[in-house]
Amino acid sequence: MSTAQQAPDILSPEFAADPYPAYAAMREKNPLIWHEATQSYIISRYDDVERVFKDKKSEFTTGNYDWQLEPVHGKTILQLSGREHAVRRALVAPAFRGSDLQEKFLPVIERNSLALIDAFRATGSADIVTDYATRFPVNVIADMLGLDKADHARFHGWYTAVIAFLGNLSGDAEVTAAGERTRREFAEYMIPIIRDRRDNLGDDLLSTLCAAEVDGVRMSDEDIKAFCSLLLAAGGETTDKAIASILANLLMNPEQLAAVYEDRSLIPAAFAETLRYTPPVHMIMRQSATDVEVSGGTIPQGATVTCLIGAANRDERRYGDPDRFDIFRDDLTTTSAFSAAADHLAFALGRHFCVGALLAKAEVEIGMNQLLDAMPDLRLADGFDPVEQGVFTRGPQSLPVRFTPVGA
Ligand code: HEM
Repeated sequence: MSTAQQAPDILSPEFAADPYPAYAAMREKNPLIWHEATQSYIISRYDDVERVFKDKKSEFTTGNYDWQLEPVHGKTILQLSGREHAVRRALVAPAFRGSDLQEKFLPVIERNSLALIDAFRATGSADIVTDYATRFPVNVIADMLGLDKADHARFHGWYTAVIAFLGNLSGDAEVTAAGERTRREFAEYMIPIIRDRRDNLGDDLLSTLCAAEVDGVRMSDEDIKAFCSLLLAAGGETTDKAIASILANLLMNPEQLAAVYEDRSLIPAAFAETLRYTPPVHMIMRQSATDVEVSGGTIPQGATVTCLIGAANRDERRYGDPDRFDIFRDDLTTTSAFSAAADHLAFALGRHFCVGALLAKAEVEIGMNQLLDAMPDLRLADGFDPVEQGVFTRGPQSLPVRFTPVGA
């Protein structure tokens, strides 16, 4: 086992600028690191991270979210385990797949994407990050919940504060205060709406959550508020980064972009490879319930474990030529990439596998199709090279593009 003195430091500016060389060094020489500043054990190899997520022997808990997320959301599904988690998952999961997704929410996704594209389609230029990606998924969730469109800007502010809190590895006091303020503001906004919705059920996601019942269990107003708060962050920031990243990756590989223009059925493969190559969430924590052997040594009971998804997804033991973006690679399975049988780690695996994976896929497929239709000769602005930003969640800082408007 190594300490951060000998190994790359995940809080250093060099790491933030480009974590990939550090990831390679960790996988090779320091697969288990004790990191003093975050008081956690860091693991980076695919097999180790997969084993922690799948947790077949019940060696890990999600107790880390008690301090990582509860102060901003209240208690959420991420912290639950065993039967309590299974019941909560059964309450919320149906809304994110099958007929609810197909019939109720695909039209919501389509109209929110189109509204954003309409604002720039005639101009010949856009910044995909600020004009589209940071707005689209959060607008979709607010609309799915049946909330007022006029409040979208407030939602955007709240989710940014929550994500900053989650990624506040260095314990910045202002970020902590902003996260706690968000919890109060969001509760003041949401609880009256939930009470009103219980009396006036409609066809929206909030009504589904108010009415949902499994084995006689229903969600309280506080449970629903906390879940909505989680949805904003878990479904907003992640899909935001995913959309910006899939476009950045394709723009940097023009022959693959041309293939996707030609054959839109390649979008899921391009999304799966984006999730592997540039995952929106680069790290997820767990708590060890017992002493656990991993590559490089033993994690003692009761420790915080930082699982580096960004490193594991580029493990040369698992993928050929892992630092190459290749939507045609044969060691990543597109058909299972959005299910708990996935062979990448971007949605985690096991019990807490992302509830919104199919919703994210629908958003990316619809969004990409509409963007490519509106921008038939998409290219990066002259001389622009995409720069990634973020350590906990990560994606392009901005993505200025040029195109010939359709019909011009
Ligand atoms: C590309 C987009 C997305 C990525 C990369 C992503 C990533 C993740 C990851 C890594 C986890 C596991 C957390 C853990 O095990 O500690 C997770 C869980 C979760 N995600 Fe996503 N997510 C995405 C989109 C969404 C969307 C669109 C929604 C819903 C609107 C959503 C809702 C959730 C929820 C509720 C959980 C908790 C599940 C549980 O604890 O059982 N996610 N997601």
